[in-house]
Amino acid sequence: MTGVATNRTLARVSDAPSSTLRASVLRGLRAGVKTISPALFYDAEGARLFEEICCLPEYYPTRTEHAILARHAAELATHAGAGCALIEYGSGAGVKVRFLLDRLERPVAYVPVDISREQLLDVSRERARQYPGLRILPVHADYTAAFELPTLPPGARRVAFFPGSTIGNFHPAEAAAFLRRVRHVVGREGGLILGVDRRKDPRLLHAAYNDSAGVTAAFNRNLLTRLNREFGGEFNVDNFRHRAFFDDAASRIEMHLEALVAHEVCMDGEVIRFALGETIHTECSYKFDRPRLEALAESSGFRIEALYSDERDWFWEAWLVPA
Ligand code: AVJ
Repeated sequence: MTGVATNRTLARVSDAPSSTLRASVLRGLRAGVKTISPALFYDAEGARLFEEICCLPEYYPTRTEHAILARHAAELATHAGAGCALIEYGSGAGVKVRFLLDRLERPVAYVPVDISREQLLDVSRERARQYPGLRILPVHADYTAAFELPTLPPGARRVAFFPGSTIGNFHPAEAAAFLRRVRHVVGREGGLILGVDRRKDPRLLHAAYNDSAGVTAAFNRNLLTRLNREFGGEFNVDNFRHRAFFDDAASRIEMHLEALVAHEVCMDGEVIRFALGETIHTECSYKFDRPRLEALAESSGFRIEALYSDERDWFWEAWLVPA
């Protein structure tokens, strides 16, 4: 069978926020240092704003990774080998995978995994049109949690694809735990193609998260709009500003929503107090050098077999195999 198999996995993530998600959002806002998971950025409007970010002149990661994939897809396909099953973690609007699908030798299945149901279905239909012989097995799931894989053709080598440097959103210990699960999913004979943003001039990093058109600010503040719509929040979005900076010692960009006035916000029957200048920490985006990437690979049961970079050495596409 070819084309899109709309298997049961598609029904597994409901569109209404679960009580556990609600509880974790409230827990994050009650904490001494207020935090919200960056996974919550990606409602329909957030996904759209992220696509816009990817086209900004200051936001180099997307076009840099495209250039690396365009240049090295054939080598990555050789690493993956013939007849693999490609599992993409966070397929999003999903253009990057095309560089691989165009080059892979007789892939037996493409498994896009994504939390945004509409995008997942759109992308699956589009890939089915573009790659007529390819079996497409979409999984609607939050890939940061354990999820069930559809039945894959037996014997197919499993190759995971995790582009975009989304790995940088996890704190080091979480990143290792996540990649250990990926390692388990692909098995002893599998592999992982991992996109990683590299450390670079802090001014370039700063500009990438403080674009002059204000799209990143809108992306960040959209979280509050979502809390109002889906989680019973009563945030006045105008009371918060976007703040992003590079912390060199931690090697990460931090994004925050900063309160412009001292005030209280009701949410789901609770009162959340903000002091003037207090923030909600909404995202970390870790930037890697070789020792940091090696440490991550080692702590998750992988080793680096090949690294592909761009001409400015801003980004890596890494081929990792079980250690
Ligand atoms: C999707 C996690 C790779 O960290 O650069 C873009 C998200 N946040 N601008 C990143 C993001 C602000 C992005 N990742």
